[in-house]
Parts: sequence; structure tokens; C-alpha cells
Amino acid sequence: MRKEVVLVTGACGEMGQALIQTLSERGAHNILALDVNEIPPALRARCQVALQGDILDQKLLDRLVAEFSIPRIFHLAAVLSTRAEFTPEAAHRVNVDGTLNLLKLAADQASWLDRPVKFIFPSSVASYGLPDLETKAHVGAVKEWEWNVPTTMYGCTKLYAEHLGRYYSRYYRQLAARPQEETVDFRSIRFPGLISAYTVPSGGTSDYGPEMLHAAAKGEPYACFVREDTTMPFMAMPDAIKALLMLEAAPRERLSRQVYNVTSFNPSASMIYRLVKAAFPEAQITFKPDLKRQGIVDSWPVDQDDALARRDWDWQPDYDQARAFDEYLIPRIRERYAGN
Ligand code: SER
Repeated sequence: MRKEVVLVTGACGEMGQALIQTLSERGAHNILALDVNEIPPALRARCQVALQGDILDQKLLDRLVAEFSIPRIFHLAAVLSTRAEFTPEAAHRVNVDGTLNLLKLAADQASWLDRPVKFIFPSSVASYGLPDLETKAHVGAVKEWEWNVPTTMYGCTKLYAEHLGRYYSRYYRQLAARPQEETVDFRSIRFPGLISAYTVPSGGTSDYGPEMLHAAAKGEPYACFVREDTTMPFMAMPDAIKALLMLEAAPRERLSRQVYNVTSFNPSASMIYRLVKAAFPEAQITFKPDLKRQGIVDSWPVDQDDALARRDWDWQPDYDQARAFDEYLIPRIRERYAGN
């Protein structure tokens, strides 16, 4: 018999680490963690199996299928928005071909198991693209079907991967003589920028928020790469994990769509500055906009409308801006760097 596992790709990423911690605290002893980087011992200890490997390595994926039964997949591995602009084709391979490999694996598993395989996929605010600041100001909070014209390779790949998920869940092999009965139960969330007290992102464009906070907590100077008035939506990491698990658990018949916005608060960069300065008055923060990265954040909406997630699966963040900083980020980050 093959061992039943929950597969988490991108296990060493910010979201992967936080998800694995929550899953294991909730009693999941069967996590199969996969990451292109070596999985650190503390994370490894929370997993049944921890593998270093590439989602583009078909042989590795075949081996997983041979060895494990995989009814749940959190496919988190991706190249983020800034990094993807340096090597767009390589990012496309990871974000699109990698996702395709996992969707195919999920479809095969569903057929073996004779039940749908849950496939939870983080998409992004980067799936939206606004042409200029005037439009951004005037549009406000975007709905899921609006402004789906991303300007980054990352945004393009996330939007397209959402379509692939919809295809694999509803239309895969639709012309076969006996179309597969059980397929992929694909569910996706378009996340805003995420801020964790424990980890810093690498290669994203919303990174100025977490970077400013972590630099201040470490007593290091920081030059923020966007203008002070730059505004986009953010969320505290515990809420991101809560959203993933709530959407996964939602009864299928309540879901009116496969891709949902979620969000929590949308501070300007100068607001983040003020919150960080209030907690760390010694912080040395300057603003030195990088026009290219600025252009990316300017193309993202100021806010996301998450009314459908609230209606369909009772989504609600635990941390608004004040609670995120006062009760999660600031106290935890102080602990995190205490003694350093
Ligand atoms: N945080 C991501 C990035 O900046 C957006 O999803 O790339």
C-alpha cells in the first residue's frame, strides 16, 4: 500500500514554512515537503518526508506517485515577481510547466484514488495590471474578473496557472471516450503582499513592507525601493495560512468560483514607515525609489475586493492593520531577533 501524504511544494518558502508549521501543530503527521533548496532540520522534523528536488524533474514526480497516495496538494513553489523579470523564461518554466506537472500528477492521483484530489494554489495580486496611477486611484478595490492584464511574467504565469487549474478540474481529456470521473478539485486564492514576523521574502516586489520591518528590528538601515505614497494590499502571514486552510475545508457546493481574492489592510509605504518607527524609534529608513520595481507596484491595485470569499466560505482576517502590527508583527519580531 502506498502511504497517504499531503504534498507541500515550495516548502522552504515563507508560506511553505508557515503552512507546514500550522499543519503539523494541527496534528498532520503525513506531510511530504518538496523544495528545490535543502529543507532545514527544524522544518524536516515536522514532516514525514522532506525532499530536495525540482518540480520540473518528471522522474522525481513519477517516483512520488509510485510511492505515495496524494489526495491533498498545496502547490506553493514559484519564482516571485522581481526575480522573474531577470529570467522571465526560466520563471515561466517553474511557474507554468511546474504547475502543469503538479496538475497532471493530481489528475492521475484522482483517477487512482477514485476521488477528487484537492489542489490548493496561491495566486497573487500580481494577476492584476493597471495602466497608470490615475486608473489605480480611481479603480480602488478590484473584483476577481477585473483588470486581468498583468504587466509582469510572474503575474502572467499566476493568471495562466489559474486557467490551467480550471481546465484540469473541469475539462481535462474532455473528448476521451470515457472522460475521467474524478479529477482535480482546484481552489486558488489571489493573495496580497504577505508579512511574516519570522521570515523575509526573497525576489518579490511587495518585499519593501517586510524588509522595512525586519531591517528596523535588526537595527539595520533600510532604503525603501518605492515612493512613500505607494499603496497596495497586505496581509499578516497567519491570516494567509488561515485562508488557505479555510478554502481547502470549504464545502464544494458553497464555492461559486475557483479563484478568490482575500485581503486585510492596505497601508501606504509611509504608513508602514510610521508603524515601524513607532515600534523602533531608532530605525534608519530612507526612501530611494527604484523606478522599475516602482512601476510593478504601481500596476497593482490599491486594494482587492474579497466580498465573494467572505460570502462563500466565511472568510475574515483575524489581523487588521492595528492588530497585525501590535499583536503579531512587532511582539513576535522582537522575540525573533532578541539577543542578536
Ligand atoms: N509578494 C509577491 C511578489 O511581490 C506578490 O504576490 O512577487
